[in-house]
Amino acid sequence: MYSQALDERDGVADEAVNAAFEQRVAAEEKVEANDRMPAAYRKTLIRQISQHAHSEIIGMQPEGNWITRAPSLRRKAILLAKVQDEAGHGLYLYAAAETLGVSREELVDQLLAGTAKYSSIFNYPTLTWADMGAIGWLVDGAAIMNQIPLCRCSYGPYARAMMRICKEESFHQRQGFEIMVTLSRGTEAQRAMAQDALNRWWWPSLMMFGPHDSESTHSDTSMRWKIKRFSNDELRQKFVDVTVPQADFLGLAVPDPDLRYDDATGHYVFGEPDWSEFKAVLRGEGPCNAQRLAHRRRAHDDGAWVREAAQAHAAKQQAEQVA
Ligand SMILES: [Fe+2]
Ligand SMILES: [Fe+2]
Repeated sequence: MYSQALDERDGVADEAVNAAFEQRVAAEEKVEANDRMPAAYRKTLIRQISQHAHSEIIGMQPEGNWITRAPSLRRKAILLAKVQDEAGHGLYLYAAAETLGVSREELVDQLLAGTAKYSSIFNYPTLTWADMGAIGWLVDGAAIMNQIPLCRCSYGPYARAMMRICKEESFHQRQGFEIMVTLSRGTEAQRAMAQDALNRWWWPSLMMFGPHDSESTHSDTSMRWKIKRFSNDELRQKFVDVTVPQADFLGLAVPDPDLRYDDATGHYVFGEPDWSEFKAVLRGEGPCNAQRLAHRRRAHDDGAWVREAAQAHAAKQQAEQVA
């Protein structure tokens, strides 16, 4: 698999191979690890899957911050399980990326060097317990909106990883919403905390869908290759349509003065996120970018002995098999 993979990455795949590939993808056939594929398809998937994996791993930090301060044993157990799920998602996704001929070490090095992207949402701080509710409800909710169509992605290993991830994400969304229900029906102070969390996480959640379709660079090809099934703006609209009635149910106000339901279209009309903030966070200027990377580097260094021990054990077993 490796030599073939490298051939294609060097652009050896010829016109006929690419044409056959386009036909297969158009016919909704899954592409598997050993199949011929255009170099650009491989590159796009490696970029997307690895960014997704990094997001899961960095995404453990904002919520990990509250495990020791969860208000009850039940909440602590749920949050712990949720954060652990995110680690698992990272691992499935690194494994899916590896089927494309790249090593996990290489991808992790890119993250630690600061040259790889991950979802900007995780560069915001978690200031109160209500943020655990808002993150599950809004951030995992937005992630599901993005990820359910990925279960039908043309690349088989990614699609299969996403099926399991989406099942777990739906639990994440529900546990977050349940926290919001509890807080919004609680004391005045708890309701205020829930509202404050919604105020801070609403706009960053809308930005999770990425820039407007008119400014999204990779969209057209990704749609043709059936990596992407819906555009950024379509997914953002779906998210708003689903989430606003949930905010109404909670009795909380969505912090958007332009928000209104349009009877004619059956959709909500909503305001513009602050795209200059989005770009600043992408450039590394978000409130927690430096902290998130520094923490990941420290955790990576702390885990060096585990990796070394595992490698030494593997080498020993291999030597025994040879002998
Ligand atoms: Fe996840
Ligand atoms: Fe999640």
